[in-house]
Amino acid sequence: MTSRIIGTGSYTPAQIVTNDDLAKIVDTSDEWITGRTGIRERRIATEENTSHMAVEAARRALENAGMKPEELDLILVGTTSADHCFPSVACEVQGALGAVHASAFDISAACSGFLFAMNALQAFIQARMYRTGLVIGVDCLSKLVDWNDRSTCVLFGDGAGAAVIRAEETGIRHTVMKSDGAKWQVLSCISRTNGNFLNNKDPKLGYLYMDGQEVFKFAVKKVPECIHEVLDESQTEIESIKYFVLHQANYRIVESVAKRLKQPMSKFPMNMERYGNTSAATVPILLDELNREGKLESGDRIVLSGFGAGLTWGATLLEW
Ligand code: COA
Repeated sequence: MTSRIIGTGSYTPAQIVTNDDLAKIVDTSDEWITGRTGIRERRIATEENTSHMAVEAARRALENAGMKPEELDLILVGTTSADHCFPSVACEVQGALGAVHASAFDISAACSGFLFAMNALQAFIQARMYRTGLVIGVDCLSKLVDWNDRSTCVLFGDGAGAAVIRAEETGIRHTVMKSDGAKWQVLSCISRTNGNFLNNKDPKLGYLYMDGQEVFKFAVKKVPECIHEVLDESQTEIESIKYFVLHQANYRIVESVAKRLKQPMSKFPMNMERYGNTSAATVPILLDELNREGKLESGDRIVLSGFGAGLTWGATLLEW
């Protein structure tokens, strides 16, 4: 018994912000951003919040799967930008959808969030606790970045992606998830702290902080490693993989991973040009685009891989 993706959906805000738009608020240029990252524009939430984007992506995934919200047993949301400390985004989604039979909670693994949530759902299904679940990767990092910091604000965008997953005989074949908490400082966002009546702490607003070069080095080393691991442990030839759906942070990272894996770039679809890095949402948004463009056929072998703050990273091998 394993589980299979039976429907996908995604949502990105309507507001497009181009590199030229950003050059009006920080000292940057389209040439610098495109050359270093491959990003040309991103979507930024104006009316939408995190749960709104998650609900829209979920509705589209359910429609794509031909399923009703009442049929869901579990809703897991990978996010690090929930609208509230509590309740979770997952509970807000459950309420908005009317998924009255589902349990719901969030998983915090930053840009690896969708992958970690999907693997957790797979484990619940394999343990026969649940049969049908919804997994969402959503982030609204526009509310966490410092819009005066050109080294980070140009990289991110907002969005959500979702997948409906059901117990079946074929589908997810193997998963690998890794963490290195000793390196948490290289990519972090310190939460707002109010202090308490004893420590007199002033409230502080946390912005996203990133050591870009450390993250770059980490990604190009660990992503190929975990992809090799997932393939070796499942005794799968790398040549049999149709697509490597990687976290969309930077085209140079994707190119470097392809080179290290000795695989052609045609196996690495990309869309960061249009959305930037949407954190937990990049992998499911890209997967949804491939699905809706008819590029995924039954039996195709696909590797999903994410990496991000924590540090966290991982890979999942599945058959479509
Ligand atoms: N526009 C123009 N110049 C910029 C800039 C911007 N938006 N951001 C930084 N710069 C400048 C720096 O100030 C620096 O100037 P200096 O040489 O005068 O000091 C120069 O560009 C080079 O900066 P550096 O940080 O060395 O660039 P880089 O080649 O490492 O590229 C990243 C920066 C962020 C694109 C790159 O490190 C990266 O992609 N890292 C991984 C990030 C990532 O994937 N994060 C998400 C993980 S989930």
